[in-house]
Amino acid sequence: MAADQTTLQLGRSLFTAEASPPCAVCHTLADAGASGSVGPDLDALKPSAERVTAAVRGGIGVMPAFEALTEEQVSAISEYVSMVAGSR
Ligand code: HEC
Repeated sequence: MAADQTTLQLGRSLFTAEASPPCAVCHTLADAGASGSVGPDLDALKPSAERVTAAVRGGIGVMPAFEALTEEQVSAISEYVSMVAGSR
């Protein structure tokens, strides 16, 4: 499924700021200007959208589950990360 610009922008703003705590605090993702090093470098991992969704919904290791995010928000983050990871 090709993500449209609105979805990508929503995903990016959730990644960098709106998710609590923001993904960018812990992860490196060049497209988002993020250089966190607590979790894996997502540009190197290049996770599928399904893999991002599983991590965000359920949490993994010290990464918390993001229970406050809506379906739409989780899907936007997942589309965004899987689209841009490793692209820069
Ligand atoms: C508090 C730090 C922290 C935050 C915030 C965080 N993560 Fe993580 N994330 C981690 C750590 C640590 C791991 C590795 C966990 C492990 O494998 O034990 C991880 C793993 C992942 C993985 C790989 C999962 C896998 O299958 O191996 C993805 C994808 C991911 N995070 C995406 C995100 C996204 C998207 C957000 C924002 C909604 C986010 N993370 C927020 C720390 C964080």
